[in-house]
Amino acid sequence: MTDSLPVRVFADRTDACRALATEVAALVRTINDSGRPAVLGLATGKTPLPFYAELIRLHCAGELSFARVLTFNLDEYLGLPGDHPESYRAFMQRELFSHVDIPAANVHIPDGMIGSAGLEAHCKAYEEAIRAAGGIDFQLLGIGRTGHIGFNEPGSPRDSRTRMVELDPVTRQDAAPSFGGLEQVPTHAISMGCGTILEARKIALLAWGQAKAAIVREALTGPITDRVSASFLQEHGDATFYLDREAGSLL
Ligand code: F6R
Repeated sequence: MTDSLPVRVFADRTDACRALATEVAALVRTINDSGRPAVLGLATGKTPLPFYAELIRLHCAGELSFARVLTFNLDEYLGLPGDHPESYRAFMQRELFSHVDIPAANVHIPDGMIGSAGLEAHCKAYEEAIRAAGGIDFQLLGIGRTGHIGFNEPGSPRDSRTRMVELDPVTRQDAAPSFGGLEQVPTHAISMGCGTILEARKIALLAWGQAKAAIVREALTGPITDRVSASFLQEHGDATFYLDREAGSLL
């Protein structure tokens, strides 16, 4: 256990996202000014929505361009085509990419329709593309009630890489309302591994609401264990938790 992970608790998620988006925009500008593209690791789900809204606002205000930004998403459901509304490819298009100036070629999301024959090579190629881009400058994370980051469910090793994962029943239950029922929720996904995520140079984990308070406390103050993959962040030199009051209420 360590108490060294920085935690920032905000009045609400809008304030938190405004602060983080300002920082990320500054990081992108600094990296672009140094002469290279900025590499962002992105998350999906409900948590990042106000963050993406804020990035779009900064873009529209002329303060942030994605023209020299490369993105790598954490994960994608297996078996969902990219045009399925619950696919993470469709999510990213709807919530961020269609509103900003990112070239389509700069976007990387695992292919949920890759068949089992091509899966291993696809995951290796995803890792290779991250490496070829020079690694991830900034990684955005949410946290599941199982403590997962990406879809690294309990038991995911510290050094795991991009691979096929089986979703925990709790995770599938949480996704059921958006899919219109548990039986519609995919059972598997492709996810960056804990090792992939931990190599990002800077990480922000966002969490909102009372339902995340217990797992946030566990991740921050509990043992570093593969039972809670977010606990591995305690060992990262530049990871910060951005919380609203409710998510931080048990700290
Ligand atoms: C999404 C992801 C997941 C979510 C987590 C929280 O790309 O990797 O780890 O961040 O399941 O989901 P929400 O934000 O919907 O509570």
